Amino acid sequence: MKVIITKDYQTLSKKAFDVMKEVIEKKPDAVLGLATGSTPLGLYALMAEDHLKTGRSYRDIRAVNLDEYYGLSPENDQSYRYFMRHNLFDKIDILLENTHIENGLAADPAEECARYNALLAAMPRDIQLLGIGENGHIAFNEPGTPFDEETHTVKLTESTIAANARFFKSIDEVPRAAFTMGPKNIFDAKKILILATGKNKAQAVRGMVEGEVTPDLPASLLQKHPDCILIADSEAASLLEGDYHKAE
Ligand code: GLP
Repeated sequence: MKVIITKDYQTLSKKAFDVMKEVIEKKPDAVLGLATGSTPLGLYALMAEDHLKTGRSYRDIRAVNLDEYYGLSPENDQSYRYFMRHNLFDKIDILLENTHIENGLAADPAEECARYNALLAAMPRDIQLLGIGENGHIAFNEPGTPFDEETHTVKLTESTIAANARFFKSIDEVPRAAFTMGPKNIFDAKKILILATGKNKAQAVRGMVEGEVTPDLPASLLQKHPDCILIADSEAASLLEGDYHKAE
């Protein structure tokens, strides 16, 4: 895993944008695996700003998202579909029909997981963007998820529900289950870019980079990926013991 430590969140977002830009410049019809959460917001803002200023086009870009809450409609402002439109898709010229996410209202969840796995197999991702949960989860793969698992439904842990409650009016409104790509789907991407910001991620980052590779810390699987970049700000990297590249 290539580790880049930045002094702050703004620099992290700029470095992440550089990685994303390189992928898009090389391949204007690239498949981008995208993520929700607050961590990628700075990157998405830079993509939107760059599109506005330079006219960089996303018309041939395709996007697949990691996960979606179970039981929320795409119009619900807490759904990840809504999040992606609001924070990125509506601000660039990507075609909405080229953007994919699990259907939170699918009547048959098992069928929906199979549909999504087939879609992912047909659209190999050139890059997969990730954040990391405080317990080391990636997408909604909670500790204990087998590494060979594909898209599945998951019961969210109390800690993830509590961490995500900040986006809802009350903790009772946070869905208790979600669809998520599995570790195997994530690992299949050609390149992985994982971002981590803030002190509350420091323990998870330490385990991911320097700990044992174990399903108890889902992000540790990324140590095995041939092309994975972690960009962490100084707070998220504060418990790392190794000597890593510092970017200004
Ligand atoms: C959620 C999402 C993850 C995300 C994580 C961290 O659980 N399913 O994809 O990485 O939260 O979120 P944040 O970036 O807001 O800290």
